[in-house]
Amino acid sequence: LKHFLTTEGLSKALLTEILDLADSFISTQERAVKKVPLLRGKTVVNLFFENSTRTRSTFELAAKRLSADILNLDIASSATSKGETLMDTLWNLEAMYSDMFVVRHADSGAAHFIAEQVTPGVAIINAGDGRHAHPTQAMLDMLTIRRHKGAIEGQTVAIVGDILHSRVARSQIHALKTLGAKEIRVIGPATLIPKEMKDLGANIYFDMEQGLADVDVIIMLRLQKERMSDALLPSEGEYFKLYGLTEAKLALAKPDAIVMHPGPINRGVEIDSAVADGAQSVILNQVSYGIAVRMAVMAMAMSGQVAEQQALIAKGI
Ligand code: CP
Repeated sequence: LKHFLTTEGLSKALLTEILDLADSFISTQERAVKKVPLLRGKTVVNLFFENSTRTRSTFELAAKRLSADILNLDIASSATSKGETLMDTLWNLEAMYSDMFVVRHADSGAAHFIAEQVTPGVAIINAGDGRHAHPTQAMLDMLTIRRHKGAIEGQTVAIVGDILHSRVARSQIHALKTLGAKEIRVIGPATLIPKEMKDLGANIYFDMEQGLADVDVIIMLRLQKERMSDALLPSEGEYFKLYGLTEAKLALAKPDAIVMHPGPINRGVEIDSAVADGAQSVILNQVSYGIAVRMAVMAMAMSGQVAEQQALIAKGI
């Protein structure tokens, strides 16, 4: 692994290697992630141009568990407000001997753009770009399914809500397909389900009751109001009635179905508190697994860079 920008096009073997390595970091007590020296002497920079609670915190914890040094750049008080470009910011931080950047940006393609321009040997990890991709979220979701259902293969997975604006849904669908999910369903209002979902291999449902019938995994998504025009914005009461996950709707899924949500959750909008906090919810487990998955991705990206640097040195470059 050189950079980690998307789950699209990655092999089943590579995705499985990430999950296996993440699993190896989780101690049997489940409440702890091992501290290992894999990134000792390396510097990781968290560069979040959009707000985050889970992703930013778990990347920081993951870097520390890998024994790396981590810098969290506060974008609001940085020189970007003085007109410094994205790449000038990157190159200046690179000059501080940074080895890896974890980047979240509102523009789709931002992480790819940076990855094309950084110095060889510096790794870029995509922590969410626009509505395009959120690959580490998808991988922690795959680990959650594997640990709670035993395997990805054979599962029927429903992704419910604002699919249109969801980078998480796109990354999940690519990973679920590669890892052998039996069926992927996307459920939501027609205005929030893009036609490309069919091309990605998902079955589309506008009726939540039909879409949830006999599924193994339910992944709820929030309405991304910050990316919506008023014309798209449904009334929250009406939305909850049609697409909010209640105990009654959950009963339509298999009895041992699990309920997931990448967060942040909006209680009473896309999910009822009784379900979010209920026995079938694994929402907080997802957050915990985020540390181990991000450790695995960072360790694999860095080992790729080390191999690349060694090859260049061996060639005398
Ligand atoms: N799931 C997720 O990306 O959450 P944050 O926005 O808090 O990082």
